Amino acid sequence: MGARRLAYLEALEVQAWVRRAPPESPLPAPAPEQHAQPSAVSPVPPIEPPEAPGPVTVSPVGGTLLPVQSVESAPPAPATDLAGVGWSELRERVASCTRCGELVANRSQTVFGGGNPSAGWLIIGEAPGVDEDRQGEPFVGRAGQLLDAMLRAIGLDRSTAYIANALKCRPPNDRDPQPEEAEACWPFLDRQITLVNPKVILVVGRVAASHLLGTDEPIGRLRGTVHHYSERRVPLVVTYHPADLLRSPGEKRKAWEDLKLALRTYRAAEGSGS
Ligand code: URA
Repeated sequence: MGARRLAYLEALEVQAWVRRAPPESPLPAPAPEQHAQPSAVSPVPPIEPPEAPGPVTVSPVGGTLLPVQSVESAPPAPATDLAGVGWSELRERVASCTRCGELVANRSQTVFGGGNPSAGWLIIGEAPGVDEDRQGEPFVGRAGQLLDAMLRAIGLDRSTAYIANALKCRPPNDRDPQPEEAEACWPFLDRQITLVNPKVILVVGRVAASHLLGTDEPIGRLRGTVHHYSERRVPLVVTYHPADLLRSPGEKRKAWEDLKLALRTYRAAEGSGS
C-alpha cells in the first residue's frame, strides 16, 4: 500500500493492515476496536494530485475482487419534464426554483453540484449546510473535508468524481429534509444522474439513500450490498454520511468496507464496458 494511501486511511482513522504474503482471504483482517476521540478528525492531508490521471489508480486493500452482490429496489418515478435539458439549463432551472417556500426564504443560493461530470463516479449527499449555502459548492465544510479524505482513500478527488445533493437548498437550521422537499428536488437529481451517466453512484447517508432507493430501511441494512438505481440499473452503493462518521468514528471501518465495495463495483462496470 502506498504511503499516500496510508495517510488517507489515517485521515479516516481506519487501521490499515498491510499484507506481507499472498492472501488467504481477500479482505484485510478485522481491525481492533477504534478508540478515537469524538471530536478527533485528523487534519486532512494536503491535497495532492492523484498518483496517475484517470478515475481510479489504486488496488483495493484486499487484493482479490469479491463478487458484487446485487439487491433490487424500487425507486420512486421521477418527473420527466427535464428530459432533454442539458447542464447549463439545468443549473439555471435549479437556481430559479421556488418550489419549497421555506427553503427559498432561507437560502443564500442554491447548491447545484460540482466536480467532473464525465468521470464515471457520482457521489450523492443529503443537502447543503451553512458552508455550502455560503459558497455555493457541495461538501465544503467539515463533513466535506472528511468526504474528500474518503474519496482520496480510493484514489478519487473532485476532478475524478461528480458530487451532488438530494436537495439543492439548505434546510433551515440544517434540519432533515422533508419528504416533500426531496420529492420536489427529485427531478433535478434524476436529471443529473442521467447527464453524468455514472458507472457507480456512492450515496452517503440515510436521507439520500432512502429517497433514491424508495425505502425506509436503516442505513445499516442498506450498506454492504450493491443496489441498482431505476430501470437504468446504475449500480449504487450506500455508506454513512461523513457528518455521521464525525459523530460516530467507530463506523469508519464499515465506511471503508463500503468504499472498497464501490471501487470494486466501478471496476466491474468499467471492465464490462457498461
Ligand atoms: N452535507 C451534505 O449532505 N451535503 C453537503 O453538501 C454538505 C453537507
